[in-house]
Amino acid sequence: MQEVLALLYPWLKVGHLVFVIFWMAGLFMLPRFFVYHQEALAGSEEATRWVERESRLRKIILNPAIVMVWVFGLALAFTADAWGQGWFHLKLLFVLSLSGYHGWMSVYAKRLARGEPTLTGKQLRLLNEVPGIAAILIVTTVVIGRFYLT
Ligand code: HEM
Repeated sequence: MQEVLALLYPWLKVGHLVFVIFWMAGLFMLPRFFVYHQEALAGSEEATRWVERESRLRKIILNPAIVMVWVFGLALAFTADAWGQGWFHLKLLFVLSLSGYHGWMSVYAKRLARGEPTLTGKQLRLLNEVPGIAAILIVTTVVIGRFYLT
């Protein structure tokens, strides 16, 4: 099993990075949709269209992408025996936090669909920065942290 995974390693990495791009794209888009959604009049036709767009983005891109990123990421960790390495522990902390952010956005989408927003447009715009900051931290941990955190 371990040998087969080692042969597949470059392809696992390709799969991992492709789905990371899809996941991040969705994470950047959804809070932006929330901002436009909240600006539309609750119960209006436009608000209904935003509910549909958000639901499609979650079902077609975000949810499948997070699953595939985790599947490929864990397969890489298993193959590269990354479990005991410091950079990987730090990366896990960041990706678990980003997964929590994803979960929170799904909850907020449902709340918005019921017409019960709890955040202001300004707060949503600030939260929009989370995926960008996470991407910087995660890529730095994987590429640079590996040399220092063994
Ligand atoms: C969600 C759970 C994730 C897990 C379990 C995971 C795990 C891994 C592992 C074990 C590797 C292989 C490192 C090596 O070659 O030794 C890797 C590579 C990589 N990951 Fe992830 N990852 C996850 C999410 C992410 C996310 C969200 C990003 C970016 C925002 C990301 C960016 C990268 C990059 C850029 C590489 C390639 C590093 C290189 O080849 O030098 N990963 N990941």
